[in-house]
Amino acid sequence: MLNLPGTVVVAPDTETLFEKLGEAVLSAALRALDERNVFHFALSGGGTPEPFYVRLVTDPKFRLIPWKDTHFWIVDERKVEETHAKSNMKMIRETLTNHVPTPAEQVHPMPVLADDPAGAYEAELEKAFDRKVGRDAPPELDFVLLGMGGDCHTASLFPASPALGVTDRWIAENDGGKVVPPPRLTMTYPLINAARNIAPLIVGAGKHEALKRVHELHESETEDTANVPISGIAPDGDGELTWYLDDAAAGVS
Ligand code: 6PG
Repeated sequence: MLNLPGTVVVAPDTETLFEKLGEAVLSAALRALDERNVFHFALSGGGTPEPFYVRLVTDPKFRLIPWKDTHFWIVDERKVEETHAKSNMKMIRETLTNHVPTPAEQVHPMPVLADDPAGAYEAELEKAFDRKVGRDAPPELDFVLLGMGGDCHTASLFPASPALGVTDRWIAENDGGKVVPPPRLTMTYPLINAARNIAPLIVGAGKHEALKRVHELHESETEDTANVPISGIAPDGDGELTWYLDDAAAGVS
């Protein structure tokens, strides 16, 4: 069995896995509402979460998610128009945000085509959380859903890429040979790691080798964020890291 930092949830198939993940989202959302009257939910792109977003809006089990009091944030984005097939925001609107009663101003696309996109998205976070980059600690997003590529990237934190070393910003542009396709805009480690709940959702046998690399680093207590960027995901303070894996990704036969 894989030994990963934090908690590992494994389910035999994606539908069962999505149910467990949806329950975790619901419980984090209700808690956030109770404690702070708002739920800040950060979403990733990629193919894996698409059917999960559909499940969130179609399964009656998740009807209690307080969508009217939710703010949607984007974990990372390609520098393309929102109408582009590869836009994460496009996929997220089509599968999720267009189908729930969240006020439009609480859906926060990354302004990837602005002159200073990282600064512009930080300004939006600063406004929502009443904090300042450079002055205050990063805001605590309530739930950050991540994915992982076969090269162990997460968000748009790719191996040996400049954004891995960013410690003083919440959002960064990322570029370079290993960023596919470049350039990208991404939440940084400090912002992701400040979250209350961090949930990598990883399915399929094709991701097992990459997960084994995370396992090996954890077992040997070694750090290698340059080659295994997802191993830099480590909640500060009271945050919780929970991995959601299907049997195939976990290597359970
Ligand atoms: C993106 C991501 C990225 C993604 C992984 C896994 O926008 O591409 O946020 O980090 O989660 O590349 O992608 P798949 O789910 O398609 O395998």
